[in-house]
Amino acid sequence: MKRIRSVVRGVGSYLPRRKLTNQDLEKLVETSHDWIVQRTGIEERHIAEEDETTSVLGIKAAEAALADAGLRADDIDLVICATSTPDYTFPSTATMIQTGIGMTHGAAFDLQAVCTGFVYAVATADKFLQSGSHKRALVVGAETFSRILDWNDRTTCVLFGDGAGAIVLEAQEGEGTSCDRGVLTSHLRSDGRYRDKLYVDGGPGSTKTTGVLKMEGREVFKFAVGMVADVVQDAFKATGTSAEDLKWFVPHQANKRIITASADKLGIAPEKVVITVNKHGNTSAASIPLALDTARKDGRIKDGDLVMIEAIGGGFTWGSALIRW
Ligand code: ACO
Repeated sequence: MKRIRSVVRGVGSYLPRRKLTNQDLEKLVETSHDWIVQRTGIEERHIAEEDETTSVLGIKAAEAALADAGLRADDIDLVICATSTPDYTFPSTATMIQTGIGMTHGAAFDLQAVCTGFVYAVATADKFLQSGSHKRALVVGAETFSRILDWNDRTTCVLFGDGAGAIVLEAQEGEGTSCDRGVLTSHLRSDGRYRDKLYVDGGPGSTKTTGVLKMEGREVFKFAVGMVADVVQDAFKATGTSAEDLKWFVPHQANKRIITASADKLGIAPEKVVITVNKHGNTSAASIPLALDTARKDGRIKDGDLVMIEAIGGGFTWGSALIRW
């Protein structure tokens, strides 16, 4: 049966000017390049300067995605920005991106699911497009996690980086099979009982401050692989596909060990796994679109390829989406 699919028309990304290497971090906290690489796979990350706010990064990524799609702001009628580090409590970063790209019509809003934000945003945009209410969505993941890190806490400050990525989704008619191009299925989960494992200890409604990130790293690691595997299996089941059919596995880039353990558990061959955490660190909601853009621009992701995205983040939230490019 024919149905509307949300087809990827373009992808883009942007990284802050300043790079911070593990060697740079050795001068800030008691750590070492070897420890960071061994435990996480991270070698360097980009850190935003004061003038590079989340919306500034998001606008650049959005412009790059529009250019890649061969579209203009006038062609878009929905902007969703996944972020946990908005420029302001309000207005939303999405409306700032909307203005930044010169768009004065349509709707724009932020979505907050921490590191799973981009997967949640893709799923949400897909439902808007499938309903027929909107035709083309700009889905942005943009973060400046450097602003909410405790730079004296070596257990967290070495893990994160800043950046932004975006995709343009367009409503197109498909045949209703897994051979269609576009978002084929999405699976979102959350369980707030895990709050204390990964959270920020401030906010406008509680402390009236921004707060800093707190994480029980080992605990997060323990749950991550199983949760990720569950939602990826759900996506396979819903579409009658398998790990064999996948061309690319593009997970949230938190930690190389979590990524490889997840791929291993799911039976996904290592050469199908896109890894950018070595260069970007964990950029939360920006990490998947940054990785998608990297793999598209270097020629790995081609039209027609089956691509699985997945993430787990604070909340916990977790989810997957299967996309035929
Ligand atoms: N440099 C050097 N030593 C360190 C550092 C550091 N930066 N950080 C911690 N250590 C020490 C610890 O103090 C500890 O020392 P001790 O044995 O003397 O007590 C030792 O290293 C081991 O610490 P652990 O926390 O047990 O190290 P672990 O092997 O678990 O690695 C890590 C820590 C990398 C955080 C890991 O647990 C992990 O990756 N967890 C998942 C975190 C994650 O991916 N979170 C993001 C997912 S959700 C999201 O993206 C928001």
